[in-house]
Amino acid sequence: MAASTPALHPDIETVLVSEEAIRQRVRELGAELKRVYGSEELTVIALMNGAILFTADLLRQIDNPVRLDCIRISSYGNATESQGKPKLVHSLTLDVTDRHVLIVDDILDTGKTLALVSGMIRGLQPASLRVCVLLDKKGRRQVPFEADFVGFVIPDKFVVGYGLDYAERYRNLTSIGVLKAERQKSP
Ligand code: IMP
Ligand code: MG
Repeated sequence: MAASTPALHPDIETVLVSEEAIRQRVRELGAELKRVYGSEELTVIALMNGAILFTADLLRQIDNPVRLDCIRISSYGNATESQGKPKLVHSLTLDVTDRHVLIVDDILDTGKTLALVSGMIRGLQPASLRVCVLLDKKGRRQVPFEADFVGFVIPDKFVVGYGLDYAERYRNLTSIGVLKAERQKSP
């Protein structure tokens, strides 16, 4: 194991959530899930691509039987602002009717994506439906939506890392940081 701390990425202005803080909070979220679900089987639906890293770490904090599926929603393109109405690009392959469904996403921003996805899943009549997000930009909501499990409430800043991207880049940064303003321009 390398003992050194990786250098801050040059395109990052400030680290908002450190790797250690993420690790600690993901452990706590795992314990919260255990308190709510006990040993029930979960059907976890991760929103690609942003939620992939978070989901992978979160699922290893619980020992419940888990079925995992992914759906893909497009809304951003290469901008830092949501491009209007989110669209379902790739849908579920597992059945969710009468299942305990947990939707996992990286960040709750305007609320449009999760409002769309939860409405769609609710229509399939799961036994229960809850939502877990790593980050919540509470001040940005355009449609009313609250998640059942939230990692961190963050200010209205465009962030990247740990799954979150800007134009598909920076997802593999181990911490979450604010992108420098001069990097937030379309290439
Ligand atoms: P919403 O539909 O506006 O709530 O947007 C949710 C989606 O927008 C998330 O799944 C992210 O993919 C993306 N998003 C929102 N804020 C950020 C950010 O600060 N950095 C990277 N992606 C973001
Ligand atoms: Mg996303």
